[in-house]
Amino acid sequence: MCGIFGIINDKNNQAAATVLEGLKKLEYRGYDSWGVAIIPNNKKEIQVDKHIGKIGEAKTILPAGKIALGHTRWATHGGVTDNNAHPHLDCNKKIAVIHNGIVENYQEIKVDLLKKGHHFVSETDTEVIAHLIEEKSKTKKINFAIFETFKLLRGSNAIAVLDFDSQSIIACRNGSPLVVGLGTDQYFLASDVPAFLKETNKVYFLNDGEAVILNNNGVKLFDIETEKERSLVSQTLDWKLEDAEKGGYPHFLLKEIYEQLKTIPKTTSINEKEIRELADKINSGYKIVLTGCGTASYCALASKYFFAQQGIDSSAIPSYEFMPFSKFIDKKTLVFAISQSGETADTLIAVKEAKKRGAEIVAVINARGSTLERLANTVLSVGAGPEIAVVSTKAFTSQLSTLYLLTTAVKNKYEIGKEKIINLSQVITKFLNTQLINQLISLAKQLMNEEHMYLIGKHLNYPATLEFALKIKETSYVHAEPFAAGELKHGVITLIQKGTPCFVLASNDEVKDEVLSSAAEIKARGGLMIGVFPFESNEFDVLIKTPDLEDLTIFGNIIVGQLLGYYLGVGRGADPDKPRNLAKSVTVK
Ligand code: F6R
Repeated sequence: MCGIFGIINDKNNQAAATVLEGLKKLEYRGYDSWGVAIIPNNKKEIQVDKHIGKIGEAKTILPAGKIALGHTRWATHGGVTDNNAHPHLDCNKKIAVIHNGIVENYQEIKVDLLKKGHHFVSETDTEVIAHLIEEKSKTKKINFAIFETFKLLRGSNAIAVLDFDSQSIIACRNGSPLVVGLGTDQYFLASDVPAFLKETNKVYFLNDGEAVILNNNGVKLFDIETEKERSLVSQTLDWKLEDAEKGGYPHFLLKEIYEQLKTIPKTTSINEKEIRELADKINSGYKIVLTGCGTASYCALASKYFFAQQGIDSSAIPSYEFMPFSKFIDKKTLVFAISQSGETADTLIAVKEAKKRGAEIVAVINARGSTLERLANTVLSVGAGPEIAVVSTKAFTSQLSTLYLLTTAVKNKYEIGKEKIINLSQVITKFLNTQLINQLISLAKQLMNEEHMYLIGKHLNYPATLEFALKIKETSYVHAEPFAAGELKHGVITLIQKGTPCFVLASNDEVKDEVLSSAAEIKARGGLMIGVFPFESNEFDVLIKTPDLEDLTIFGNIIVGQLLGYYLGVGRGADPDKPRNLAKSVTVK
């Protein structure tokens, strides 16, 4: 939610252009507006260039300089206007501030600053930070003025400040991600690594309560509370530049869908030790609670079915509905928190509550260095690499595959689970052929003008329909509504009219006949029946024949939804990488 990127000592003396290029890699974090501030060579004040809308191919008119800081915004306080875009300046244009989060007490701070004569030009909570720092820096060194200001802000926030006088970037973190990149004589600050991966993979992820000062002499780390310096121990990531580039694909989404051919089998070669230890814990009587938001919550639900197949009870609770059930959590509970980013506010709130009640936290995450990773007792890092498209695909299937392996491990069938996942990826590799793609493109054309679609599935295919439908909604803005097949007769069948598209997701399992009966009932009311199923059936007007992979058939069924969502979205003129109104990591409640 909001992308932050800053550079010290740009080697080309074009810091604003470098920041703009880096911001393009972070645009998935918010794309309501963008802005860059620079300390220009030989000028007396900071200059800012900011605009509403996506960065796209934007160029900046800012002059040369070596230090700049920029932002892509996902609006919270204040509408989407040029004035509300970040960075925000103090009255003297010596301090520029960008921000990720919400300052809950900004109104009261603003009232006080207005009384002191500060002049505001935006409606944002962020602008108060610039003026408060200005006020405090009248009597204090800039870094202490910033630390003190930060301590007065209520809510989860990360701020980055460009300070003209000290020619530095100073940033503080509480709840929103910040990472420092240590290049050769160049230093970077960003909300995510892809912004600077071209220059360095040597990084330091800030913890909550930490601040950094970046200037020509390097990077210094501080504890905000004590205002004392700490030693900064960097790590080197194994991410490659290609991971953050489109690599010949027209969109990140399509690239990431295809990457699943590698990322799914990769899950069989990582986490084995942790999975076996967790399996032992489950066998020793730990309760299992699975939680996450959006796609990750569907992964939680699908995993609940996988656990049940192995005769193991578990609960799947969306993180934003966690609280009423938290009283059932105790120190013999394993809470699996599933998250691509590890920064989703609702998931973190659920995890903190579970920790308070003594539970052990298992983070099933993709991005590294996240808050969730730090809160967890055990980390199952699913290794799908940077997921740049806002819509989650490869992180989801890697999380699901990892949790599937765990369910097999509990019953001492880990090796069989591994073989099944490797076989799955080989079969899916053959499945994603030109014939399938052509079929999906022509189906997308056929459905292009539909505004409503329905989906049904039962048992494992129920969470699969939830995920399939979400992909369609997010990427094409078509209303796709998923139902458990069993729900149909209890009301929703009223929605079916002649020609209403209805997807039927099924596997070769013990409930397929029931699902086909539900399909027959819809067909009898005139629905256009689209089967996503390994076998022919009279009930289908169209069949997308997915591979029969027993309980793992849902992987193929879901990948069909990812691809169909993509082609529908492209066909309807949506941006599949950056759906409207969405941000990649939802760091606010
Ligand atoms: C859907 C999607 C979202 C996320 C959700 C949780 O494609 O991307 O529904 O799954 O916002 O995000 P993470 O996994 O980062 O916690």
